[in-house]
Amino acid sequence: MDRNRVQGSEELFQAQAHLYNYTYSFIGSMCLKSAVHMGIPDIIHNHGQPITIPDLVLALQLHPTKSVYVYRLMRLLVHAGFFATTKVIKDDKEEVGYDLTPSSKLLLKDNVPTLSPFVRAMFHPALVHSSEFLAEWFHRSEPTPFHAAFGTDYWDYLSKNQEFNSLFNEAMISDSGMMNLVIKDCKYVFEGLNSLVDVGGGKGAVGRIVSESLPNLHWTVLDLPHVIENLPDSNNLKFVGGDMFQSIPSADAILLKLVLHAYSDEDCVKVLKKCREAISGKGGEGKVIIIDIVIGDENEKHELTEAKLFFDMLMMVLVNGREREEKEWEKLFLEAGFSRYKITPIFGMRSLIEVFP
Ligand SMILES: C[S@@+](CC[C@H](N)C(=O)[O-])C[C@H]1O[C@@H](n2cnc3c(N)ncnc32)[C@H](O)[C@@H]1O
Repeated sequence: MDRNRVQGSEELFQAQAHLYNYTYSFIGSMCLKSAVHMGIPDIIHNHGQPITIPDLVLALQLHPTKSVYVYRLMRLLVHAGFFATTKVIKDDKEEVGYDLTPSSKLLLKDNVPTLSPFVRAMFHPALVHSSEFLAEWFHRSEPTPFHAAFGTDYWDYLSKNQEFNSLFNEAMISDSGMMNLVIKDCKYVFEGLNSLVDVGGGKGAVGRIVSESLPNLHWTVLDLPHVIENLPDSNNLKFVGGDMFQSIPSADAILLKLVLHAYSDEDCVKVLKKCREAISGKGGEGKVIIIDIVIGDENEKHELTEAKLFFDMLMMVLVNGREREEKEWEKLFLEAGFSRYKITPIFGMRSLIEVFP
């Protein structure tokens, strides 16, 4: 046997497996989607102990002939790390039980935090369908593949599809909820500030958390009028309707949490310039606090970089936004007239960036 040839073919077959894995990753996505839609994580949780396949089939109210198919679905999801197997004793017999892992615990509907609404929304046919237009879009003039697929932009589509709009809003709240748990520990970032404007602050989830623990900090949420309408002000938290491209109220600091990644570089520079104007009264002590993705260098874990790059593609498919590497962020800050910044990676996929005049 020709050893060199065998070694060469090993590499070839490894390349084939790599290619097939990526090609079939949509099957993995669809298996995860099925598990979420069938409510498998909650069923296991409510069972109170690892569940056997027959009990899972019973709880799912499936036809008994589907047992073997459920086993195969679970086998893949165990391999992918969403469930784990363990031995259980049932009717004096040893059987395989299926348990939750840290990832599937995040899919429990009533858990805090839960990412179940996020995962459900990301499988919406409008998102899947628009991704299929990626290649075609490169040859066309529309600003996004979403636009090429639906003839309108993403925000317009959302405003006309109430069911999808609610799903999307719930997804954003659940994704943000993960960070809001940690934001309490970032109090030091807000200490010493008398006033802050949370630009694109939505319904004030972060404002409520931070303003309660820092009663001397006056927190203003600036968002589009229809987003903040009917939201009651409280002691040190108030809501203002407006457009960040037009004007941002003056304050010691500005927060932009998960806002800039949805915009082009040109639009980001416009918003950042408005932010710089808004903090100018504080001289060199004002700052802009950004919470967003920073695509890492080669030392970052492969899985984390991959998730960030997927987000970047999603931004490309849906809106005219992007995820940025540090040097791309830096370029925006310098163009908007800021002199320095500090990045702290504390939210898993997202980082805290403090930008100074
Ligand atoms: C992805 S959400 C982020 C919400 C919030 N910061 C969070 O982390 O949960 C982006 C927010 O920007 C708001 N927004 C979009 N365009 C805006 C504009 N021109 N002026 C002010 N807010 C805007 C949206 O209404 C939305 O609430």
